[in-house]
Amino acid sequence: MTERTSPIGLVVLISGNGSNLQAIIDAIAAGEIPAQIRAVISNNPDAYGLERARRAGIPVEVVDHRDFPDRESYDRALQAVIDRYRPDLVVLAGFMRILTPAFVEHYAGRMLNIHPSLLPRYQGLDTHRRVLEAGDSVHGVSVHFVTPELDSGPVVLQAEVPVEPGDTEDDLARKVHAEEHVIYPRVIRWFAEGRLKLDGDRVLLDGQPMSDRQRRIRLEPSAARPD
Ligand code: GAR
Repeated sequence: MTERTSPIGLVVLISGNGSNLQAIIDAIAAGEIPAQIRAVISNNPDAYGLERARRAGIPVEVVDHRDFPDRESYDRALQAVIDRYRPDLVVLAGFMRILTPAFVEHYAGRMLNIHPSLLPRYQGLDTHRRVLEAGDSVHGVSVHFVTPELDSGPVVLQAEVPVEPGDTEDDLARKVHAEEHVIYPRVIRWFAEGRLKLDGDRVLLDGQPMSDRQRRIRLEPSAARPD
């Protein structure tokens, strides 16, 4: 198993607040991830995450989807901008766009996404509301490799959060975000260290398929109620 020694290059795609981007910036600054963010790109010129990137001295780019007639032309333009930075890994951090198969294929095995649910449950939008409506007692977050089908790629790491009586969507968003800021930097670190690979649809850590136990950070029994 060869582990990398030089930092890898990241391009981070965002659409909004960028709290996950901030967690990654902070983890790199703390020496926890051997990586450099070469650019932050947004489809939304007003994304607050762009300000976070500027403050950290990271180049920013806006590729506004409203300037393009269709998804294909948008994704081609986005790909051209990303590839100028020659990233080893593309990190989707709250990038709220459905991606075309050609775009996803181009970054096969080197594009990660974070999604606010325990995939395969609750693909798509409004996950916190749907969890509350279903009466689930456990919610969570997933980091996965991106494949052409929306929110369906092989999961690398998930963290559970408890759904407590009286929780609102905001409460769940807050709990999920706290876990996101832990697990996304951890997965990016594994990738940057050369320990994490996609092999077909299997996720390998240190050359071995990840077990269910490795893939899921579970609640302490006291915090979890039975489903
Ligand atoms: C995060 O909760 C992330 O899981 C979610 O958007 C939020 C972005 O927050 N992503 C998706 O829903 C993707 N389908 P942030 O801008 O503060 O990082």
